[in-house]
Amino acid sequence: MDKFVIQGGKPLAGRVKVSGAKNAALPCMAASLLTEDVLQLENVPSLGDVRTILVLLRHLGVEANGGGGFLSLKAEKLKSFEAPYDLVRTMRASVLVLGPLVARFGRARVSLPGGCTIGPRPIDLHLAGLEKLGAEIALNEGYVEAKADRLKGARISFDIQTVTGTENLMMAATLAEGVTVLENAACEPEVVDLADLLNQMGAEIEGAGTPTIMIRGVEGLRRASHRVIPDRIEAGTFTVAAAITGGEVLIEDCRPAHLEAVTAKLQEAGVEVEVGEDALRVRSFGRPKAVNLQTQPFPGFATDMQAQFMALMAIADGRSLITEAVFETRFMHVNELLRMGADIKVVGNVAFVQGVPVLSGAPVMATDLRASASLVLAGLVARGRTTVSRIYHLDRGYEAMEKKLSAIGARIERVK
Ligand code: UD1
Repeated sequence: MDKFVIQGGKPLAGRVKVSGAKNAALPCMAASLLTEDVLQLENVPSLGDVRTILVLLRHLGVEANGGGGFLSLKAEKLKSFEAPYDLVRTMRASVLVLGPLVARFGRARVSLPGGCTIGPRPIDLHLAGLEKLGAEIALNEGYVEAKADRLKGARISFDIQTVTGTENLMMAATLAEGVTVLENAACEPEVVDLADLLNQMGAEIEGAGTPTIMIRGVEGLRRASHRVIPDRIEAGTFTVAAAITGGEVLIEDCRPAHLEAVTAKLQEAGVEVEVGEDALRVRSFGRPKAVNLQTQPFPGFATDMQAQFMALMAIADGRSLITEAVFETRFMHVNELLRMGADIKVVGNVAFVQGVPVLSGAPVMATDLRASASLVLAGLVARGRTTVSRIYHLDRGYEAMEKKLSAIGARIERVK
């Protein structure tokens, strides 16, 4: 298993380019199941989760070709309608094939994701929504089995805003008969990106990016080409990398409007952020000030940036309260940060982070994708050497992270 070895203490300087968004690429790829025509995607990041969904799509019978960020997908005929346990277990987002399969082929068998390291993360809202659209749902041997003739439009009000739930039902509704209204829908930029793609394919979707999405069902969808939006979480991770090391970094090819909650918190912490059209310049001197934050659905502070921001607060001047309000348990990085000398106490879903002047390098273990990123960030500023093991978690969601960081001066090495 690969590890990162990091020698901390060097301010980062230079420019870094943001890759395509993992969480937008995955649903866009699943959307290929909605048509027999070719779907062409650009700016697809090369990372673990994208490879996993490609394995799944090929397993279903999708022809997939491409490279260098380009992907061509054709789901003309399928040979299977099942997402097996081994794939869903490694990546929950595999559940995104459920809506498209039921909508176009009237059948799907998808393994239940089961528990995962960031809380139970059920898919009950995806299933209740599909039932409202007229699908019959049964649970058998750990699998969701869904059947339907043609889905029928319905009004679906989500109890909780769910990103992949909104995406799954939005995709399913494109081919349903009649109008579907999704209420309390997720407003994340990745939902908007998927709606843009679906509309290009001939769907009729209005309101994506607001809590009410209206989808007028059509008979069929057609070919399209689409460029995946930049990854706001990767961009946000680089803003923290610049801030935590006291460096100056220009983060290019990003959408600053998707990062407003993060940049506002950085500014509140005393970090300089200059906002350009598709770039952010982040400059920081000395220790940041402690600030409080609470994770929220978009446009609030993203839960996927909480762990990285906690690394920054670990060296801040003062005490910061970080409240995780999206997932029940998402503080696995805390124990590892403690091993590096951080002073953090967790009570329920609140972390009390008392900033310390220095962290010290240590061997630490990655436990999930964003937790791993926070350990790398802590390693960049820590005194001495940090070894982050199990970085396969990081490789799931960051493209060439160590290469991008070394190019802006970090002393980071991948060791096999
Ligand atoms: C997506 C993102 C993930 C991000 C999360 C929250 C992808 C591939 N993943 O995950 O990176 O951390 O949004 O921004 O886009 N819930 C239910 N029942 C359901 C569905 C969700 O109770 O049927 C709950 C979850 O347990 C959680 C909350 O709703 O507490 C939000 O989860 P959700 O938005 O669904 O997360 P994902 O779509 O899985």
